[in-house]
Amino acid sequence: MSEKEFGDFQTPPELANIMLSIVKETHIAPDIIIEPTCGVGAILLAAHAAFPSTHVAGIEINKAYCDVLSAQVNDKQQITIVNADIFKSMAIIKEISAPCETCLFIGNPPWVTNAAISAAGGTNLPVKENTRGLRGIDAITGKSNFDISEYIIMKMIETFSAHKSLFAFLCKTTTARNILKQCWNNALYYKDASLFPFDAKKYFSAAVDACFLVMDFTERTTVTECAVYDSIENRRYQNRLGFFQGKMIADIDNFNSYNYLGKSDYIWRNGIKHDCAKVMELDIIGTKLRNGYGETVDIEDTLLFPLLKSSDIANGNLEIRKNIIVPQKRVGEETALIKRKYPKTWKYLSDHITDFSMRKSVVYKNKPLFSIFSVGDYSFSPVKIAISGLYKHLAFRILLPQQKKSVMLDDTCNFIACSTEAEADMIYALLTSVETRRFLDSIIFWDSKRPVTTELLNSIDLKKIARKQYPELRYESLAKKQSGAQIALF
Ligand SMILES: C[S@@+](CC[C@H](N)C(=O)[O-])C[C@H]1O[C@@H](n2cnc3c(N)ncnc32)[C@H](O)[C@@H]1O
Repeated sequence: MSEKEFGDFQTPPELANIMLSIVKETHIAPDIIIEPTCGVGAILLAAHAAFPSTHVAGIEINKAYCDVLSAQVNDKQQITIVNADIFKSMAIIKEISAPCETCLFIGNPPWVTNAAISAAGGTNLPVKENTRGLRGIDAITGKSNFDISEYIIMKMIETFSAHKSLFAFLCKTTTARNILKQCWNNALYYKDASLFPFDAKKYFSAAVDACFLVMDFTERTTVTECAVYDSIENRRYQNRLGFFQGKMIADIDNFNSYNYLGKSDYIWRNGIKHDCAKVMELDIIGTKLRNGYGETVDIEDTLLFPLLKSSDIANGNLEIRKNIIVPQKRVGEETALIKRKYPKTWKYLSDHITDFSMRKSVVYKNKPLFSIFSVGDYSFSPVKIAISGLYKHLAFRILLPQQKKSVMLDDTCNFIACSTEAEADMIYALLTSVETRRFLDSIIFWDSKRPVTTELLNSIDLKKIARKQYPELRYESLAKKQSGAQIALF
């Protein structure tokens, strides 16, 4: 069995004991405890120790793990171990839990996505369900990529929350948030939910943001919140996740005081996408340019623009050390003219044509030679305000033209185009105001791979902030609609 396909990360007893002490604090008195994928049983055994008179049932697909666990269990203990596939075991769980009023579902389901399983040639997947007329999780199997753990936890919640149940699972933090969102969207109401982050590196040698999600369905209320604690060990309350107009909010209390959710007058864009860095991005070495293959590049100046990367924007290194070739002014623009107008550039690009033909993204399919993406009038605006999408802090930068050319950004950056420096100064002041910062902190999930997205930035109602913060700034008159003012077009 491949560890990858089965998302196999056995929980150390130390962590299992912490999980059970948290469960105990809820004062649940379960009639049955179920561990859907129990492995060698650290959680199952900790659950038995915490609730010695309660029947505990574990399901596990790996026979060797079942044998290891069975060897530690004696006949007198109320422990049942079922060597079975969880995706085919719902009937067994229903049968075991049917006579019970209060159920505890606890565990650590496989940490793997269906895409990773398929890539490894595996088959450890739920059977595709008819999604018509079914809610939340049943529709998940129709999604192209989903987390197996999310599927298992949601399946448990959907099937067994009608009992007085408590669901307590280790999972990725993004998985926990998806589960909460599905409960909120599907009116699966509960009494309480808590999220305790833990160090996955320490307990599982895994580089992911992970947590212990505890959802108490022993009563029904219309709660759509989840308390977030600092760590599974300390359990100091931090803030509450919440729900607003179908959107998950990272810190609902702060959000309620700084709600500037709306539509930005300024359209946030991504920098240029080309997937061809070795050819398109050139280091400035004195008066020469060098590409990613170490070759000196001698081409016409016209299609060359100063370039800043995400790390430059995040760290405030705004000195230009790279140029980028920008062969198009808009997506899909014909490039054949370059051959006649800029023959050296054409030859250089043609010499590296295999780099372009190897690009996998569909955005380049059936497009002119050397096409780029995420380019338009806005790319050539004289002034930009930029922020990296990848870094875990808010650092907006004003970018002025360099040698009369607009500064270009890579596709992990977000930016807005401004016509003048005065306009950029005003927008920058709004973006860096306390009001905006508090608002952004309340909606950004800093543990996401790309915490700052154009979607998020486009939801800042700058006008509302301007009215509150700087009524004298004449936002309305300065903030012209994106006029597409541009410089250094070729
Ligand atoms: C992340 S490990 C956790 C194991 C155990 N719950 C623990 O916390 O130590 C996931 C477990 O799920 C088991 N597993 C994977 N796919 C399964 C399936 N389809 N049915 C039952 N168990 C499965 C793996 O063998 C592995 O033991």
